[in-house]
Amino acid sequence: MKNDALRRTRTVALAAILLNACGGGGGTATGEGGRNASGGRSETGGYTSGTGGTASGGAPGPGSGGAGAIVGSGGQAGALGGGNGRGGAIGTGGMAHGGQSGAGTGGAAGSSTGGTGPAPAPLVNTYDGARPTTVSFDSAWRFHQGDVTGAQATTTDDSSWTLLDVPHDWSITLPFTQNSPAGAGGGYLNGGVGWYRKTFTLPASAAGQKLFVQFDGVYMDSTVYLNGTQVGARPYGFSSFECDLTAAAKPGASNVLAVRVNNQQPSSRWYSGSGIYRHTWLKTVSPVRVAYTGQVVTTPQVSTSSATVSIAVTIQNDSATDQSVTVASSVGDPTGTGVGAATSPATSVAAGKSATVTQTVMVSNPKLWSLASPNLYSAVTTVSSGGNVVDTYTTSFGIRTFAFSATSGFTLNGTAVKINGTCNHHDLGALGAAVNTRAMEKRLQQLKSMGVNGLRTSHNPPAPEFLDLADRLGFLVMDEAFDCWDQAKNTYDYARFFKQWSATDIGDMVMRDRNHPSIIIWSIGNEIQDSDNTAVAQSLISAVKAKDTTRAIGQAFLSATPGPSVAPMEDVVGLNYAPYSYDSLHSSNPTWKFFASESSSAVRSRGIYKTPVTSNILMSSDNQCSSYDNSVVSWGTSAEGSWSSVNTRAFIAGEFIWTGFDYIGEPTPYSWPSKSSYFGAIDTAGFPKDVFYFYQSKWNAGGPPMVHIAPVDWTSWTAGQSVPVFVYTNADSVELFLNGTSLGSKTMNSTTGHLQWSVTFATGTLQAKATKGGTVVATDTVKTAGAAAKLALAPDRATITADGRDLAYVEIDIVDAQGVVAPKANNTITVTVTGPGVLVGLDAGDATNHDSYKGTSHAAFSGKLMAIIQSTTTPGTVTVSASAGTALASGSTMIATQAPEDS
Ligand code: GAL
Repeated sequence: MKNDALRRTRTVALAAILLNACGGGGGTATGEGGRNASGGRSETGGYTSGTGGTASGGAPGPGSGGAGAIVGSGGQAGALGGGNGRGGAIGTGGMAHGGQSGAGTGGAAGSSTGGTGPAPAPLVNTYDGARPTTVSFDSAWRFHQGDVTGAQATTTDDSSWTLLDVPHDWSITLPFTQNSPAGAGGGYLNGGVGWYRKTFTLPASAAGQKLFVQFDGVYMDSTVYLNGTQVGARPYGFSSFECDLTAAAKPGASNVLAVRVNNQQPSSRWYSGSGIYRHTWLKTVSPVRVAYTGQVVTTPQVSTSSATVSIAVTIQNDSATDQSVTVASSVGDPTGTGVGAATSPATSVAAGKSATVTQTVMVSNPKLWSLASPNLYSAVTTVSSGGNVVDTYTTSFGIRTFAFSATSGFTLNGTAVKINGTCNHHDLGALGAAVNTRAMEKRLQQLKSMGVNGLRTSHNPPAPEFLDLADRLGFLVMDEAFDCWDQAKNTYDYARFFKQWSATDIGDMVMRDRNHPSIIIWSIGNEIQDSDNTAVAQSLISAVKAKDTTRAIGQAFLSATPGPSVAPMEDVVGLNYAPYSYDSLHSSNPTWKFFASESSSAVRSRGIYKTPVTSNILMSSDNQCSSYDNSVVSWGTSAEGSWSSVNTRAFIAGEFIWTGFDYIGEPTPYSWPSKSSYFGAIDTAGFPKDVFYFYQSKWNAGGPPMVHIAPVDWTSWTAGQSVPVFVYTNADSVELFLNGTSLGSKTMNSTTGHLQWSVTFATGTLQAKATKGGTVVATDTVKTAGAAAKLALAPDRATITADGRDLAYVEIDIVDAQGVVAPKANNTITVTVTGPGVLVGLDAGDATNHDSYKGTSHAAFSGKLMAIIQSTTTPGTVTVSASAGTALASGSTMIATQAPEDS
């Protein structure tokens, strides 16, 4: 629970290829996050936008070969390749599928011949350059929960440990425990110590090369060993890092990598997950190469007719002799067409040293990166030494300008943009913290359809794929480093490590992320307790500026009076929950560039309505919150109030609401048995709450016409009861009908948050017709449900990619005989999957529910349950069936899974 004293003070006062790992999604017409005609509501005029076509970069390797090698021989380098989705750009595809990742029958831990089944779509490392010799290291780890003394020894017998692929989060598999050291903040899910081991064979050809293992993130306090020797350690669970394996590696022989993870709780104010929860990579590189994250692309001059692209490449020479190297870079446009190149004169790099070569490429008529057209270019750098190409390194980037003003907010490419953002924790609901690109993509698509254009990675560096998605889908990102500095918020949080590690962690975040056009703000912290500590702030600012000077630096200040000494040191001033101070702060600090780094913190439970709507009803005995925007924490503001305070002031660049999605942990205003948050516009299962449509009506005002009725439940009222009916629309006016009889029209104006009727309840049909210029452009209907009769299943996509990673989200509705959702039904539903698919998560978004996210049965909530199905690498037809005993008729649906090359 939050520190209310603080609160009180405050309230007073790589383009397409980077994503093709999970398939392009194939442009279906089922609007994400939105309108769904199954159940008690049907709508027209809603969202039908596709989800970005399939974008395929280089062809996947055929997956045959590799005789025990990590780097098999099948990989086929992709060319600059198209893809017909947004911004299809660089393709690499140069990953080989051999012993390590061969699908089908082969490939146990890289020690046998690769399989001959369909090759999984290549995963591509997204931040240390897309290199043909970097391969996924995700498969065939052994895991043991608990500590084992000396488990790093090569001789340790791990045969009884669980065989699994990472990304992996062990906490999400555990039962909710009231006395868990994670506490309410951590969602009552334990952490503790865990070990991972991976046995693999290195090819003899690795001798003389540099070998690195790269972790996108291990939560937390990890120690890494190769063949019993420690090769690295990283306390911060959100940092990406690499470990140099070269000295301890045995080319041509078997090797054992071991990782000890120590999530001593409480370590976080929200659910963290535990384990190797992001992707891992094995990099085999020449001693003479582009240094780690050593290619930096900036665009110092941009106009519509030309852009100057600066490519600064740091060459690392780990060979024993001085080297003369030639660096050549080429730039590809969003279609993959080469549009410029530069080759530098030979440069000498001393043995054991590095040198930076900066090249300039002029691009004519650049296709700017923008929210609507997130065009991505590619920069391919080759390094040659002794006449041989020794490294090829590819990154994507965007060409755009942005600025913050103290009086007029934010501009992108010279055009004013109000930042309509969400704060986002990293868990993926039932998947826990384990990274899955499709799960992240789906979430961002839902947010996009809500009208969101900004993402704050509260309160830590995100998975790299999150930023690739933000680049590709067109979001503005506030990339945040820390939730604390050296003063702890929890006993075992990062404060323990801050002094020693903070400059490294924030520097590494910037190095990893600086080529993403989506990033506009580096945040040095959230609600830091001693945020006016100029010495610490200066050290963090300097660490950021050493790596990038092209983004605004700021932080999210706790109170309405941001650190008077530190705020002027920063480029932008983020205010958490300070709408009542916007004007006074602006007038006393007219040069500060303000934005609402965190806003609203209204809470709601999907499908739950508490009256009167004029009262703030925060807590009730059912541990649920109200969906009429009338459940607001003491330091917060309703969604409408927050929107209004930001949108009536040009000098506030925008807001990042708390939060886009519910997350596990921090079940404010409740604690046990509640275990997940109520703040989201969308619940943990992915079902939108009513407020989703408020934001859609405002933030997507120019988007497809929409109208939405709250309550979605036109069943659980008594005849004659006066029901408050809220209608959200981006049209001009709405006429409401009860059983065909008009209840009158109401008209929106620029300050209206919603239209409201008081309707005397009668069973039947309530319909809203929204008009623009006198024409009906959208309708929404809610109906009274009869007795719950059956289960209706609908997947979000009929076809997914058979790559072992892609997901289908199957919505299971409890409906009456006519197909109307029974809004209070909470039957326990059992889900079975046959065919080449795996059930990987069940969730209904009920913060109070304790059914496992990883079980096969789960209670529905407000008539719905979501089942997440993952493909295997075998193409075919997956059947998903749902049953709930004899009370309801069972239902089923089918999903096709398609080989990556056909997707
Ligand atoms: C903020 C904090 C967030 C979350 C939120 C809940 O103050 O930065 O992490 O706790 O409150 O309202």
